[in-house]
Amino acid sequence: MGGVLAIGSYNRDTVLRLERFPVPGETMTALGVAEFHGGKGSNQAVAAARAGGRVGMIAAIGADAAGQAARALWAEEGIAAEAVQATQAPTGAATILLDASGENQIIIIPGANAALTLPPGFTPPDDIAVVLAQLETPQAATAALFRSLTGARRILNVAPAAPITPELLSVTDMLVLNQTEAAILAQREAEPAALALALAAETMRDVIVTAGAIGAFWARPDGVVIGAAPPCVTVVDSTGAGDAFLGAFAAFSTEGFKPEKTLRLAVTAGALACTREGAVPSLPYRAAILALPGH
Ligand code: RIB
Repeated sequence: MGGVLAIGSYNRDTVLRLERFPVPGETMTALGVAEFHGGKGSNQAVAAARAGGRVGMIAAIGADAAGQAARALWAEEGIAAEAVQATQAPTGAATILLDASGENQIIIIPGANAALTLPPGFTPPDDIAVVLAQLETPQAATAALFRSLTGARRILNVAPAAPITPELLSVTDMLVLNQTEAAILAQREAEPAALALALAAETMRDVIVTAGAIGAFWARPDGVVIGAAPPCVTVVDSTGAGDAFLGAFAAFSTEGFKPEKTLRLAVTAGALACTREGAVPSLPYRAAILALPGH
């Protein structure tokens, strides 16, 4: 069974719990505030490790308390972090507004994440089956890593939504994005399956579009599409649901399951991540994912 390598961001998340989102010009009082580990890259690495993957992380952090906390997290989760870089910039941070329905709005301060490069002389381990990246760190570093891992499935989570450089797209095998991000990339609103098919045809890559309670759709460039529906859960906080999906998808992909089963397990992980507050505290463990009916 090959390993999972994640390249991407670490952020210190500050979550402000609100009754509802403020309107422009409005001052509001939060119902509560809490701090969590976050950052899409790190969240996905943790999700993959909890789903049973053997995981390594490439990230950039600052020489500060948040950076130390990141290293402690990766050690605790059994994630190999030798390739993590210390930079002059402060560790990345995110402010997350969370409303009473569990929806969020996220503002990122990139800090050290913006300085991520592939370490000089970096040689990837030769047993990597899946490599995961997002768009909170420079695309050039991801493209360099993907180029060096031709034998692995190279997955790009197009989040936050942004144009993908031709250099990065040329070395990517699969795109994963939520319905909002897919609509931005496709420059039109449509059903998630239709967006997945359109983006797969346009990019000539496999494309998965996730759509919350509706589930996820995996389209191939030849027009074949499969879907999976999530279990019904009570949503407390949707932060990290996409990261739980990506991490679980990567980990279960290394186990040789059929695409339908891998997608179903990933969708289940995403749903479970909505049932608790905070990104990392909500990322589910393998046993909880497999315990749900249908697995
Ligand atoms: O996907 C959720 C994550 O997005 C948060 O943890 C926040 O840090 C941002 O990166």
